[in-house]
Amino acid sequence: MPTLTIDGTEYEVAEGRMILQAIDDLGLLMSGVDIPHYCWHPKLSIDGSCRMCQVEVEGMPKLQIACNTLVTDGMVVRTDVERVKKAQRGVMELLLINHPLDCPICDQAGECTLQDYAFDYGMPGARTEEPRRPAKKAMDLGPTIVFDQERCILCRRCVRFCREIPKTGELGVFARGDHSLLELFPGTELDNPYSMNVADICPVGALTTKDFRFKIRVWFLDDVESICNQCSNGCNIYASRSNNRIYRYLPRRNDSVNDTWICDHGRLSYQLIMENRLTEPRVSRRGTSYADAVRAAGDAVRAARESGGSIVGVASPFVGNEDLFVLKQLLEAVGAPAATFAVPRGESDELLVKTEKAPNASGARALGFEESDASPGAVAVALVLGHTLAEECLKGVETLILLDTENCSLAERADIVLPARSFAEKEGSFTNHAKRVQRFRPILEPTFEALSEGEILQRIGAAAGLTGWTASYDVHEVSKRLSETVAGFDGINLDSLDDQGCELA
Ligand code: SF4
Ligand code: SF4
Ligand code: FES
Repeated sequence: MPTLTIDGTEYEVAEGRMILQAIDDLGLLMSGVDIPHYCWHPKLSIDGSCRMCQVEVEGMPKLQIACNTLVTDGMVVRTDVERVKKAQRGVMELLLINHPLDCPICDQAGECTLQDYAFDYGMPGARTEEPRRPAKKAMDLGPTIVFDQERCILCRRCVRFCREIPKTGELGVFARGDHSLLELFPGTELDNPYSMNVADICPVGALTTKDFRFKIRVWFLDDVESICNQCSNGCNIYASRSNNRIYRYLPRRNDSVNDTWICDHGRLSYQLIMENRLTEPRVSRRGTSYADAVRAAGDAVRAARESGGSIVGVASPFVGNEDLFVLKQLLEAVGAPAATFAVPRGESDELLVKTEKAPNASGARALGFEESDASPGAVAVALVLGHTLAEECLKGVETLILLDTENCSLAERADIVLPARSFAEKEGSFTNHAKRVQRFRPILEPTFEALSEGEILQRIGAAAGLTGWTASYDVHEVSKRLSETVAGFDGINLDSLDDQGCELA
């Protein structure tokens, strides 16, 4: 492996990498080795146009751009010398000559690399007095994105994204020199299914999403690591929250799952979390306390066991591995067969979107549940998670116990209804289509009484008097038991998983 020395520290890097790529591979870019950059992006082709990433390379008379200079064995690079700093100041001055400097009303303020680099690498003041170049404000580029042409620094990341990732190519840079402007190609609009990623990669506030702009200043948000639950790809996301509310999802980099992208549908799915929620525990279609509903469910399970009535479980591909594991254990404890589950399906694409429109069908399979939407027939008790099975399928069930997040038609039919927490209100893991187990963390506190499906089932087991079952529940303990019991999960539990997840054995 070639060695690369940067500011006196030697690194071993992969063969055939540019300086910036090599540092990014090591996880040190802007967090250990500071080479400011605008046009370079780890998942796009190299443009080499902004000149911000200039470094001094021993043996080369001129400064080189780190994004497009191949590492050779023994290369010695300096980022901390005066002529590099002078070049960076020059680039910043050029970029700011025509910038409107409207940070107080710009949605990117607080997460803008032009603002950050101006502070770290820029000039203390402007040397020009001429008026700034006029350009258009708040241009509508399509259903999701607004473009402020004045703020654009022409890094062409958005252009390359549209050409290279969704391959739709709606954007281009037109005219030359200081007349250059980013525009839509005539007759097009930016409406591809991944369009909102351009706002993430735009280093300034030129491209903003209609969904998020002007909702909140970003410094009031904190970002929680999570997983999109809209299909089995399990894209890694940050959920930005404030005051117990989610304001947006952003893609979180995971090169094994979603690189640095998410689809627009998944991005906007945070809006669905609070839609049509099931908020009231019910027994025999009447509202009751949570404890009474759990007790009634426990009594129904106990009575079925004592009378020899059959008990079945219907799993859900929307709940976590830990919830499914408690269901598995409960069914085993009452001598019931393994649960079945049904998966909603839809369109897929070649980039990220998968056919299975649920995050954890693979987890259900790994736990030994079988995919089926057949009716369980005439049974005494059915423990049903979610509402992926049609109401008619459950006609023959004597006592239907429903654990769900949504106030669906099945909740009207169910004999005992227990409101469950959404994935955003609990902790756990999903297994994606490629059998990668990935962790999600609580983002919101529920605003009504609701428990995770795992905890509800644990309490039902205790209320039914199952040997060794208590009402106490700790999702980390459950996760450990899962990894010790279920083949493939060996060593994979909530405490061992890092932010990139881990594939099942
Ligand atoms: S709109 Fe943003 S991403 Fe696109 S060229 Fe301009 S600065 Fe770069
Ligand atoms: S591809 Fe699937 S998992 Fe990824 S963001 Fe879209 S819906 Fe969510
Ligand atoms: S990041 Fe290297 S030239 Fe733009």
